[in-house]
Amino acid sequence: MGDIRPIGIFDSGVGGLTVVREIIKKCPNENIVYFGDTARVPYGTKSPKVIEKFALQDILFLLDRHVKLVVAACHTVSSVVLDHLVQNFHLPILGVVEPGVKAALDITKNDRIGVIGTRGTIQSGTYERKLKEKRNGITVISQACPLFVPIAEEGWLEGDVTERIVEIYLSPLQKQGIDTLILGCTHYPLLKPVIQKVFGDTVHVIDSAEETAKLVTRRLKLIGIENNQEEPIRHDFYVSDIPYHFQEIGERFLGTKLESLTCIDFEPFDFKA
Ligand code: DGL
Repeated sequence: MGDIRPIGIFDSGVGGLTVVREIIKKCPNENIVYFGDTARVPYGTKSPKVIEKFALQDILFLLDRHVKLVVAACHTVSSVVLDHLVQNFHLPILGVVEPGVKAALDITKNDRIGVIGTRGTIQSGTYERKLKEKRNGITVISQACPLFVPIAEEGWLEGDVTERIVEIYLSPLQKQGIDTLILGCTHYPLLKPVIQKVFGDTVHVIDSAEETAKLVTRRLKLIGIENNQEEPIRHDFYVSDIPYHFQEIGERFLGTKLESLTCIDFEPFDFKA
């Protein structure tokens, strides 16, 4: 039999589709409901109070769709408010920070790890704190790369301009001799090839979306809520706005056609935080 309820995945917008893409690869039997808060993106520049209110509403929307487990695909949410959010709900809520942290610690040889993300993620200090909690004496070099989000959405995934921007942001990490880099933002897996090109093969680049998908597989199994039933499965996508070029951008992030897309009215989930 198994548990046919969907996995709920949310993000501030389109970026979380990189996480959906990996979860679909690893869990082909699972139904998925995705919510992208495209009307209120970006979260990465907002204050913790506002991010918490938005994330609570996003989760309430998914609960309304009877999900069995929630994945906060947004690194900003996972870094800034996840620990707090988890305490408010009875169902499992997984973030994208822990899986990247675990993979980086498993892979580093010189204990010098770089982390890149939005300003909100980097300023929260969560990656650094979690890495240091798990391994004493580790060196963490963090860098906000705010231009990476618009570049990825614009589809500038290679070329001189993109390489130059990547070099400028990443040269401080290169100078500090990191051997492992955590991509701490939903959008950065699209830039992985150019990031890897700039670093060469001296640095191991961790794709948090892939690591999160592995964690989801393990957790579903551990709790015993996998869906073992064969077809048909559904992947339903909800957003709070459909901005220009959304379909095209979404399909680039998801890596396949974006079907079953619904724009919702967020009012019923609006409340005073
Ligand atoms: N999804 C966000 C993250 O992973 C990036 C976009 C935003 O700033 O909302 O941090």
